[in-house]
Amino acid sequence: LRIAVLFGGRSAEHDVSVLSATNVMRALAPARYDVVPIFITREGRWLLSSFEDGAPGQPSRGTQICLVPGGEGRILAIPPEGAPFALPKIDMIFPVLHGLHGEDGAVQGLAAVARVPLAGCAILGSAVALDKDITKRLLAEAGLPIARSVTIVRDAVPTFAELRRAFGLPLFVKPARQGSSVGVSKVASEEDYQAALTEGFNNDRTLLAEEFIDGREIECSVLEDGQGDLFVSRPGEIVTARSHGFYNYEAKYVDADGAVLKVPAELPDRIESEIRATAARAFRVVGCDGMARVDFFLTPDMRFLINELNTIPGFTDISMYSKAMAASGVSYPDILDRLVAHGLA
Ligand code: DAL
Ligand code: MG
Repeated sequence: LRIAVLFGGRSAEHDVSVLSATNVMRALAPARYDVVPIFITREGRWLLSSFEDGAPGQPSRGTQICLVPGGEGRILAIPPEGAPFALPKIDMIFPVLHGLHGEDGAVQGLAAVARVPLAGCAILGSAVALDKDITKRLLAEAGLPIARSVTIVRDAVPTFAELRRAFGLPLFVKPARQGSSVGVSKVASEEDYQAALTEGFNNDRTLLAEEFIDGREIECSVLEDGQGDLFVSRPGEIVTARSHGFYNYEAKYVDADGAVLKVPAELPDRIESEIRATAARAFRVVGCDGMARVDFFLTPDMRFLINELNTIPGFTDISMYSKAMAASGVSYPDILDRLVAHGLA
């Protein structure tokens, strides 16, 4: 099978995608699948890349790639000089992209238009899950537990006093459509709030102000097989170093001691099974298919709330998605095989 792995991309999570894709390509290539690495620059150009010595090339210029609409996997290569030429057909697109223009249904739509099988979640679930505002509306409508929040758009910005009255302090302000905590602020004062609005609106036009949940961070991996049956992993727990205040970008990727992953999480059996069942329901409610990581908060009195769903979660072999699956008996190469099987079904 020839699998085009897309990585890099236009979102704020470009670097995270390169880390995830490096691991995916190491596990897919070279013996098991024929990998066609396609690097997407920060500007959004699709370039033919390479995968040598366990690392993908990240060219800033070179041969551009064009997916033929309706072409069932036909791709054209457009070199900087000379005539375009056809490359061997690909059998599947495997986006290892995080955030906007990659995890949000856009690339998933492109795969549909090109009539190429896609690994992972399709258009609707991707678009919904990337938007925390829409996700929360659907989860609430289904009666699933979420943190209280209000939606903020530029012409309807609540005052700090209103938010403090509604949620107490601290509270969080986050862009509706971002990942890896990019643009997220913890707010404890009027001054913080103004800075948080600026930071938030630099990242999206819709924000959420959300109550602070003082709880543990618990995450579950969901994987759908070719028959449509869901496998839900045992939950894992993220323990963030106190110095970071919350599980922010630095704690996730920059500081090696920023967070510890405890997999499986130590939970009473009843809570573990309720969380796993809720993860499966949330996956369906949001319209996901293929895969997602469902993130929860668990309060000291054992109340759990869904924080969000990620349809292309951090995907290295030491990321929570894969560690939680491994703790449940599914190895990293197995995850990839199942995603491929689901995409071809
Ligand atoms: N958005 C990052 C990659 C995650 O959810 O793991
Ligand atoms: Mg996310």
